[in-house]
Amino acid sequence: MSHQLIIVLDFGGQYNQLIARRVRECGVYCEVKSYKTPIEELKALNPKGIIFTGGPNSVYDEASPHITKDIFDLNIPILGICYGAQLMAYTLGGEVSACQTSEYGKTDTHYDHSSILFGGIHLPETAQSWMSHTDYVSRVPDGFRITAHTENCPAAAFENAEKKLYAVQFHPEVNHTFAGTGMIDSFVKCVCGCIGDWTMAGYAKTAIQNIREKVGDGKVLLALSGGVDSSVAAALLAKAVGSQLTCIFVDHGFMRKNEGDEVEAAFKNSGMQFIRVNAKEQFMKKLRGVSDPETKRKAIGEEFIRVFEQEAKKIGKVDYLVQGTIYPDVIESGLGDAAVIKSHHNVGGLPDYVDFKEIIEPLRMLFKDEVRKLGTELGLDPVLVWRQPFPGPGLAIRIIGEITDEKLEILQDADFIFREEIAKAALDREINQYFAVLTNMRSVGVMGDARTYDYTIALRAVTTNDFMTADFAKIPYEVLAVAAHRIVNEVKNINRIVYDITTKPPATIEWE
Ligand code: XMP
Repeated sequence: MSHQLIIVLDFGGQYNQLIARRVRECGVYCEVKSYKTPIEELKALNPKGIIFTGGPNSVYDEASPHITKDIFDLNIPILGICYGAQLMAYTLGGEVSACQTSEYGKTDTHYDHSSILFGGIHLPETAQSWMSHTDYVSRVPDGFRITAHTENCPAAAFENAEKKLYAVQFHPEVNHTFAGTGMIDSFVKCVCGCIGDWTMAGYAKTAIQNIREKVGDGKVLLALSGGVDSSVAAALLAKAVGSQLTCIFVDHGFMRKNEGDEVEAAFKNSGMQFIRVNAKEQFMKKLRGVSDPETKRKAIGEEFIRVFEQEAKKIGKVDYLVQGTIYPDVIESGLGDAAVIKSHHNVGGLPDYVDFKEIIEPLRMLFKDEVRKLGTELGLDPVLVWRQPFPGPGLAIRIIGEITDEKLEILQDADFIFREEIAKAALDREINQYFAVLTNMRSVGVMGDARTYDYTIALRAVTTNDFMTADFAKIPYEVLAVAAHRIVNEVKNINRIVYDITTKPPATIEWE
């Protein structure tokens, strides 16, 4: 089944992924493409509409991304956002000028409800929108009318409804814009005529069919980490080609409390061949005497590949290797020159070590929230579907200094209690990542009239959209107090708890 498509044309703005996510939330499939994509190529994709993203430039900069005027003659509806709005105005003969005062943040915006974007949704005549611009459209092109304004921005929205061209200076994709998703919904449904045919149930069905066709009677291998992406990929592959699939779960021993068993329980009876390698002793041996974070990471990464390779060799030649790459990885690995943030190596180096014919990436076009929805659709255990991100080296990089069995046990117990209290307070889906760290510091305490000299546990909890920047979570004191009380009472060798209140940057989320 093919889906109706919206193209998000990327001009290098910071919210590009967010726009795509919002369109998908409206039940409409979209893909992000570079503004450099040839117009013929865009046309061949047969999109129902195109959204121009924001971007950091001014249309008057020579180096700024531009677009051929021909795109406006394709008879495809276009919505320009921020820089995209200015580019539309500029390209079609309007005027863009520098703001006297640049607008940034929540801004009172007056809407004309006769616009199809604003009329059919719950939007007051004046509501807040999120602005972030230093240029503005000072004259709209011929044939356009203004449909929203703010104190400093006379053309906060403008349109040529006949040609289905729409533009907004503000960012409807950002939560701070009141009813912003509704405006995007109006554009994709009422202007572009999308019916909302993008559902995870539909996706699962098509993906299973495609995988079956591709794989035939071939053998498939998947490295299962227990994280959301590889677990959902495994569940999907199991449904499609269960008996031809082997999942190798390398348990390095640095998982959270009970986690290895939870992963095993979720997949043991799914029809696939599930191999759990309990390799803790091997990993511990490699880490003896190691306290430098980078050396730890490197040693774990290398050992992981060695163990995986050993197991894979036992299976013999496989035809397909599955990777849990998701859409943000694809976007961030570089669509155009503006979008390169970081390169991703999802299963660090594995393809070099395993003999296989082709890679399958069944989640390549999905955002994280869609991956979770798909997991739910496939009936995967909620414990796995809602698992927070967990670093490959696991608790090894949350134990500062050398790792010992005793420290590992202390951290697992403390972390378990913290997670339990966060869940009890119903904060587990609100806070993006939360965990305990065993600092290598001991301090003096008093317990039952006796002096103690024990370790300090640091609690870390962050809210973040992209994990590249993060704020510390404002957890109620009562929740912290209960967690701290329980940890010092229930976990041996701990007499002090601190809460990490640094943002990223300057700190990182993990301590090592
Ligand atoms: P930092 O500590 O760099 O972490 O602020 C950002 C996010 O990345 C995760 N992280 C890792 N994930 N392998 C991974 O798969 C790693 O080596 C690794 N190191 C950090 C971290 O948990 C956070 O979500």
